[in-house]
Parts: sequence; structure tokens; C-alpha cells
Amino acid sequence: MLRLSLNENPLGPSPLAVEAMQRALSASHLYPDHEANPLRERLAGFYRIQPQDILVTDGSTAGLEIIARTVLGPGRNAVTSAGSFIEYPIITKSVGAQLIEVPLKNDGFDLDAVAQAINPDTRLIFFANPNNPTGTLTPVEETERFLRKVPESVIVILDEAYFEFAEYFAARRGVPYTRALEWIREYPNLLVLRTFSKVHGLAGLRVGYCLGPHPLLERVAEMKRMFCVSQPAQAAALAALEDDAHIQRTLQNNAEQAQWLTEQLTGLGVRVPPTWTNFLYCDLQREAGPVAKRLAAEGIQVLQPGAWGLPHAVRVTIGTAEQNQAFLAAFRKAWQAPG
Ligand SMILES: Cc1ncc(COP(=O)(O)O)c(C=O)c1O
Repeated sequence: MLRLSLNENPLGPSPLAVEAMQRALSASHLYPDHEANPLRERLAGFYRIQPQDILVTDGSTAGLEIIARTVLGPGRNAVTSAGSFIEYPIITKSVGAQLIEVPLKNDGFDLDAVAQAINPDTRLIFFANPNNPTGTLTPVEETERFLRKVPESVIVILDEAYFEFAEYFAARRGVPYTRALEWIREYPNLLVLRTFSKVHGLAGLRVGYCLGPHPLLERVAEMKRMFCVSQPAQAAALAALEDDAHIQRTLQNNAEQAQWLTEQLTGLGVRVPPTWTNFLYCDLQREAGPVAKRLAAEGIQVLQPGAWGLPHAVRVTIGTAEQNQAFLAAFRKAWQAPG
């Protein structure tokens, strides 16, 4: 199977990260650094913030979970958009809270509707930017307007899992992407999530982090399991940050291939909103399940986000040129088959 369903890095892990991990293995009898201090310090230097404004977790999904456990519970609710990351409903349910979903607008978050849906029991907002699975970007001014409106008693999770891809596209398209580092100084209720799973190619190791104001992070950190990020994973993440060549190769391949694949799919009559991520949202404008099944029969796995409320779409990870050609050949057959 060619797996184009999980938005992994098609170029693999950073080679520097693999070497660092191998070196770290000989200390496997020791517990890892619970706070991941060298990694926090490196990230702090990278972003020019304080290490205390960073919390390292076992993937950004774990960050989502511990924030939800900190502020949600029975009788409380979170607000998000329909057609967004599947973990938001799963995590909200797991802590016994209710999730309020507002409809998508132009394939993306409708932040005015999210703000309007806040009620006295709301404690959390899940906001993915760019959004998964639609790949859309919410402009900086809209996010700013939204953050000003949200009451301080409601925590906003700004989920920037695709940060590096969005930043790369934004630079090329001449628009600003995010002011997250300034916003965490201005808004005491804002937490920003980023991950090593995407551009760094370390999805299997489970390392992510949360940027935010120290007092809030301190509360959230109380929910973190002891030693949840292994030492090889911490070493790999540190090395991956130094591997600019791998990062640039990944971003360049993604941008080139996004353009090519979007053109090809659009040419076939598929509606593909411009992506800001490492995947394409393909609106087939008809039931997408049969197409996804036919693709699977050809050995190609894509995500059919029916469970996310989007029965007419498939989401495909942008691969290497070779992988994308294989996908396109199979897609053409699956798309043109009757039914
Ligand atoms: C919007 C969004 N947030 C978070 C994640 C989770 O990433 P991680 O591997 O860091 O848990 C993903 C992964 O696909 C994602 O799409």
C-alpha cells in the first residue's frame, strides 16, 4: 500500500535525527528528562521566547488532550468548526464534555460563528490553522479580531500542526500567516500547538510542543504523564531542528508537488481549494466512499473524511513526484469508473 492518508513526510525522517536517535539508544536504561529541557531551550532560542513558555509533549495530540483535561469536564463545552480535526470530538467526549460545532464557511473556520457559539459553560476552543482536512488558511487579521473577542475564561488552542508548510506557502504568496509568538504575549488564554510529526518527519516518535503564557502552561503541565517523551525522541527532535537541508527539501518538494497535483486534479473536474499544508482536499462533489475504495484496491490509501462530516471529499497527502504520479493514475481510473 502507498499510504497517502496520514500526512506523513514522504522524504522520511531527517537523517541527522536518525543518527542522534541511534546515539541516544545506549542510554536507554535511564529515564528521559521529564521536562525535555535541552529541547525546550533550543526551541526557545529558535523562537526567541523563554523555555518556560514551552511545554513538550508526546505529539501535539497529547497536548490537545492534557489541555482538555485541564479545563473541560461534565457540564462544560468546547467550540470548534465542523469539518475539522477528528481528534477534537474524540478528546472532548473522552473528558465527558460537550462539543459545539459551527458549520464550515468557504471550506474553512468561520470564526465569527465560533465566537457567537461561546456560552457561559464554554471553556475551550479548538482552532486549526491551517485546517485539517480542508487545508485552508484563516487570515491573520481574522484570527486577531477573533482573539480580541474571546473572553479570558475561555482557552483558545491555536493548532498549527502544519506551521512550517503554511509559513513557506505564505512567504511565496506574499501574505502573512501567523503572529502566534506575539499573540501568546498578548493573550493569557492562548495556547499554540506545533509538532515534529510533519515537516521533520518524526511522526512515529511522538514529539510535539505547546507555546503559551507560563502561568497557563504550568496548570496544563500538571496533567502531563511522567517521562512521556522518550530520550531518543528528544534527541531526534533536537537534531531535526538543525537539519535545514531536510526541512528545505521537504518544503520545496511539497510546494512543487502541490501545484502539479492541484493542476492535474482540477483538470479532471475535482474542486481543490489552494492548500497551505502537505495534503490536498479534493471535493469530488459526489459520494467519495466508492472512489476511496477503488483507490485502495489499486494499492493507494487516502483519507475519506466521512466520519468528519465530509462525505464528498478525499484528502490526499502530497508525496514525492513518483508517488503523486502513481496516485494520479489510480485516481483517474477510480474517478472515471461508474458509480
Ligand atoms: C490539525 C492537527 N493537529 C494535530 C495533529 C497531531 O499531530 P501529532 O502527530 O503531533 O500528534 C495533526 C495530525 O495530523 C493535525 O492534523
